Amino acid sequence: MVTVPALCEKPHDAVRCKRLTDRHGRRITDLRISITDRCSYKCVYCRTGNDGAVYAELPIAEYLRIARVFVALGIEKIRLTGGEPLLRRELPELLRELSALRTLDGEPLDLALTTNGHLLEEMAPRLRDAGLSRITVSMDAVDAEKFARITRVPGSYQRVLSGIRAAKRAGLDPVKVNCVLLRGFNEDQIVPFARFSREEDVIVRFIEFMPLEEDRLWTPESVVSLREITSALNGFRPLVSLAPNTASETAVRYTFDDGVGEIGIIAPVTQAFCGHCSRVRLTSDGKIRTCLFSQSDHDLYGVLERGGSDDDLAVFIRRTVEQKEARHHIGEPDFLKPSRSMVHIGG
Ligand code: 5AD
Repeated sequence: MVTVPALCEKPHDAVRCKRLTDRHGRRITDLRISITDRCSYKCVYCRTGNDGAVYAELPIAEYLRIARVFVALGIEKIRLTGGEPLLRRELPELLRELSALRTLDGEPLDLALTTNGHLLEEMAPRLRDAGLSRITVSMDAVDAEKFARITRVPGSYQRVLSGIRAAKRAGLDPVKVNCVLLRGFNEDQIVPFARFSREEDVIVRFIEFMPLEEDRLWTPESVVSLREITSALNGFRPLVSLAPNTASETAVRYTFDDGVGEIGIIAPVTQAFCGHCSRVRLTSDGKIRTCLFSQSDHDLYGVLERGGSDDDLAVFIRRTVEQKEARHHIGEPDFLKPSRSMVHIGG
């Protein structure tokens, strides 16, 4: 048994025992931890392609300590992201420790991971053995040349494809494939991805492009909207709606009229889902972000560095989460670019 920090030893201590909630009444149950901001790809919608970036990551044990405190406060789902999380050699050990944790209701954590897939072929069985049950792979084209233009890494398509297949073979289920659509780059990939979902038996999720990139590429026109995506898919084969899996599900789900294939569309720009957002993020350098589009971070690692106890971390987390923004303002005149780009925040 793994012991969680003694935050709730006194059952009458209602304030400290209350599960994480923000001041808008949303329960916060979902933590995303970026375990590195290094990435082997330089996707055009994310990185500039220039090197010279300064990277920041914590020892794996520190992410684990922070995760334990979050779980003791009511977190039920943890997604590991990056950068590229498979670049951390200690990833299997971290997964093993996390999969031994229990939620406040005594359930296993819902553990998930997002990867670029480059190292997945060799790593998939080890991730599965370490307690990971499902995986999300980012893949923005099912055409080798186009994919290499997006990632700026030759040969990347074949590696990611092999990674996806290895993940399926290893028994990771479901395997989801995330595709960010950018006008002028890959909106012609919608139907090929529909075929891909049907042929490879993976869930394909199209994501509307958000202004989170290092370069200033984003314009309202660059977003390929949910409406446009469903219309292209319907032209291929009639879509049939599927019910959401959970209340805070980000994707609108579909299959086709013959029940083969599954498509999710994540539309943070044209159909924002902030009202039921249950997420907070920890950056690779140990800062809490309460929204992808926050204008500032909250330095949780600072508390740890100054010798803070688990209780100190818990108090800081609770105060920070309370301040979570009501919603983002993408596309509105008062929109301000977030203080950090996706590669530092983690997806
Ligand atoms: N807009 C939308 N999605 C993005 N991702 C990265 N940058 C952006 C962006 N600007 C996606 C990645 C990954 C997931 C974590 O987020 O492709 O699949």
